[in-house]
Amino acid sequence: MKPLRIALTKGRLEKDTVSLLEKMGMDCSALHDKGRRLILPVGGGRIEAVLAKAADVITYVEHGVCDLGVVGKDTILEMGTGFYEILDLGFGKCRFALAGPKGKNFFAGYSSKTIATKYPNVARSYFEEKGMDVRVIKIEGSVELAPLLGLSDAIVDIVETGSTLRENGLEVIETVAPISARLIANVASLKLRKAEIEELAQAMEQALRDKEETQ
Ligand code: PRP
Repeated sequence: MKPLRIALTKGRLEKDTVSLLEKMGMDCSALHDKGRRLILPVGGGRIEAVLAKAADVITYVEHGVCDLGVVGKDTILEMGTGFYEILDLGFGKCRFALAGPKGKNFFAGYSSKTIATKYPNVARSYFEEKGMDVRVIKIEGSVELAPLLGLSDAIVDIVETGSTLRENGLEVIETVAPISARLIANVASLKLRKAEIEELAQAMEQALRDKEETQ
């Protein structure tokens, strides 16, 4: 049988993901020494790993070219749900927050507000739920700049330690949603390769529990 293929988010989640696979007893030497190779054998070829940007992880899993994916809840909330979310991996913890200039009451006044964000769908649905009509402007990076430059009244962005906000005179107004890394699965793969996927997910859960106990 061909190996299960898993798409892993490169960057922030990469280190924790690789150490989880290693805790499961899988040989990850190809992930440590990848060179320019894009499809990498893990666990002696038991699974095949692909390293990709978060949004691409979801695209590959949705289209079924990867059976599984490891991706942040932030990207899941932004991109929707054409796949199953099967496990909260517990690492990559941070939150989505509404943030704005320190000491300024964001909700004061009647004028409609402008929000800058890398996550327009998350921002829109958050304000829809509140019944607030806002203008959302999409920014690609360092969203914190937008209120400093006067482009927006506030931002919806990821807050981890809070230091980016603090160092720029901004503060959290409200938490929008908690975030952590999730294991996701393609809908058809979960039907056709249920036993293998469940076995892998259970091994991940066990490795996460063992890690918690030793902390
Ligand atoms: C994220 C986020 C904030 C920062 C928050 O950006 O957009 O800017 O991290 O982290 P903190 O609360 O610990 O300061 P990231 O570093 O991923 O870079 P990007 O803006 O280029 O996406």
